[in-house]
Amino acid sequence: AEHMEGDLERVLISEEEILARLDELAADIWRDYEGKDLLLVGVLKGAVIVVSDLMRALPGTAPMDWMAISSYGSGTKSSGVVRILKDLDTDITGKHVLIIEDIIDSGLTLSWIKSNLASRNAASVEICTLLRKPDAVKVDVGVRYVGFDIPNDFVVGYGLDYAEKYRNLRCIGLLAPHVYA
Ligand code: PRP
Ligand code: MN
Ligand code: MG
Repeated sequence: AEHMEGDLERVLISEEEILARLDELAADIWRDYEGKDLLLVGVLKGAVIVVSDLMRALPGTAPMDWMAISSYGSGTKSSGVVRILKDLDTDITGKHVLIIEDIIDSGLTLSWIKSNLASRNAASVEICTLLRKPDAVKVDVGVRYVGFDIPNDFVVGYGLDYAEKYRNLRCIGLLAPHVYA
């Protein structure tokens, strides 16, 4: 995947740094959910890579499920009004749900998903996100696990896309202006 790195302004977080941080988060999660009926819920598509690596970093096993959602809204900015394209396969009644995301930008997506899942009688609903942009947050959503806080710049890789590209880049990078200009 090195050929994609020419499309980057620079690498923001290397694959090694990401995996080391996921090891720490996995240990925290395993300790916090010991003895509890944990279900990992990934949000398609951006979270596919982080779910894959995070769940393999866990010291034991836990099931996963997936949601796909679509946000209505003008242009590129999400309005936070969301429609479910693919719902969970699992009944989460009584389960301890941990939503896993690649990034919190405005927070609109996750605040909608969190309240949607919380209305289904789960024992608990928490959030783990690899990235968070504190300067872009529009709604405050309680996040239990954060990998990295990053500046409000356009990042790609490790699941994050620009026009569906770069999800398979192993690092998190800043997209070079010539790519989207
Ligand atoms: C991206 C990202 C988060 C969401 C964050 O998903 O993966 O899910 O936006 O933005 P927000 O905090 O402003 O709501 P996107 O809608 O691009 O879909 P994708 O995961 O399929 O790329
Ligand atoms: Mn997403
Ligand atoms: Mg996207």
